[in-house]
Amino acid sequence: MEKLTHDVIVVGAGLAGLRAAVAAAEVSSKLDIAVLTKHHPLRSHSVCAQGGTAAVTNPKDSFDLHAFDTVKGADYLADQDVVEFFVKKAPSEIVLTEHWGCPWSRTPEGKIDQRAFGGHTFPRACFAADMTGFHEMHAIYGKAKSYSNIKFYDEWFATSLITDQGAVVGLTAIEMKTGILHAFQAKSIVMATGGHERIYEFTTFSHTTTGDGMAMAYRAGVPLEDMEFVQFHPTGLIPSGVLITEGARGEGGYLVNANGERFMKRYAAEKMELAPRDVVSRAEQTEILEGRGLQGPYGPYIALDLRHLGEEKINERLPLIRDVALKLGGVDPVKEVIPIRPAAHYSMGGIKANIRAETPVLGLYASGECSCLSLHGANRLGTNSTAECLVFGAVSGEEAAKHALAAGLRELSQEKLLAEEARVSAIAARNGDERISVLRDKMRRIMNEKVWIYRRGDQLEAGLKEIRDLKKKFVDISVEDKGKQFNTGLLNALQLDFMLELAEVTIVSALPRNESRGAHSRVDYPKRDDQNWLKHTLAYYTKDGPRLEYAPVTITKWPPMARTY
Ligand code: FUM
Repeated sequence: MEKLTHDVIVVGAGLAGLRAAVAAAEVSSKLDIAVLTKHHPLRSHSVCAQGGTAAVTNPKDSFDLHAFDTVKGADYLADQDVVEFFVKKAPSEIVLTEHWGCPWSRTPEGKIDQRAFGGHTFPRACFAADMTGFHEMHAIYGKAKSYSNIKFYDEWFATSLITDQGAVVGLTAIEMKTGILHAFQAKSIVMATGGHERIYEFTTFSHTTTGDGMAMAYRAGVPLEDMEFVQFHPTGLIPSGVLITEGARGEGGYLVNANGERFMKRYAAEKMELAPRDVVSRAEQTEILEGRGLQGPYGPYIALDLRHLGEEKINERLPLIRDVALKLGGVDPVKEVIPIRPAAHYSMGGIKANIRAETPVLGLYASGECSCLSLHGANRLGTNSTAECLVFGAVSGEEAAKHALAAGLRELSQEKLLAEEARVSAIAARNGDERISVLRDKMRRIMNEKVWIYRRGDQLEAGLKEIRDLKKKFVDISVEDKGKQFNTGLLNALQLDFMLELAEVTIVSALPRNESRGAHSRVDYPKRDDQNWLKHTLAYYTKDGPRLEYAPVTITKWPPMARTY
């Protein structure tokens, strides 16, 4: 197998990955840095981030307020040392991206403007209209391209991490253009590969968010933390699931049921539509389950009403969602309500990492959505994600760079490389009766039906059994394209393999958590149970399925309290 060598490899070129690469390059121009991504960096899912990036920039706001909002939003499962570090670092990241060319929206005085977002007690979402991620990505990509010591491997698909005695030593990746599996040797690796929401049917996420990096780290022995906590965003456009930003409610939009009622007054009288996402999604789901949804060709839905904002404001603040609603929903928000319902949107869980973005495997770092540090606990607040990508993307890049300057390269085990080559070749050669797309769609339906907003033990059990049946059927798939170049059939098979693994981890992590906390809402255990469950779930890979352990939550200033909005 051909071998390529770098000091630092960043896997993933979204916000966290690009920020990591820039931070590593800033540590030393002598470092040889690679960024490996399965598509072009500017097609990473981060470009779809719409509403904003949270940071304290107004003197009337404070770090403690941002931290407390985050901890309360997290239903007290966040590690508070991580939260405190994060809120202090976020403002300087806004300034940096500004210097790198991000066109932040402005107040009439010329300052960076900020809008309200769910669960935040102060308008602290810096935004670039409703295309925040798109503009941040272009600014940081431009910056990353200015370093001669960052090499981009676009359209390379990573398949596995190679470890040796508790340290990461490299990875394997397919060059999609040739179909050839290569070995990469590195001193440090940063995983910044995004979430796994495509395990669900109705999701705001791009088709590429298949959780590859989480699955690779898990198989390499790193625990996945808090995977039962999946966020459902209240406003997925019907029928595609494409995001309609929470910024629409931040700008004053209403949620309305079939009776024309702003029903949030019964669920969160103070915050109304700007309660945190777990609260709003549960409210919408309850309205639908109790028969107060509007009826449409794709089933019951909720109406997002922006008409009272007026055309000028919609065009200035929310131009993308007007376009998206028109093109993908067939409605003009200036004149009509937007049909929406909750959609799988974010993974609070991921690759276990500490405040320095270090995983338990030496030399392996994780940042962005694929990681769990744990900043978001049981429920993330909107706009804390892009901020996290910037803050901890930078931390992961710096730490990886420092490690690479001190460490030597270690040999890649031939045995492990050959085993990975055999695994990928065996999947490519499969000629069975099962169709990849059919198994994938079944997995997504199971997750939608049995591991959704409201969960019940018996349904989770049934869902787990069905996912395990699909895992068995995966052995009998057919990869119809036997060619080498751009074999998307093979890539779909590898992605499905990763997603099935993560669907299993999600359910196995959810099953024993007999409480309701944040986004994990058990109808059979409707109360939060701090006595027994104020702890993180850690899922370890074994060949017979995930083995669970638990870890304490770090509390610094804010002991758990009742959570009302
Ligand atoms: O609604 C949104 O614009 C999403 C933001 C986020 O997930 O942070």
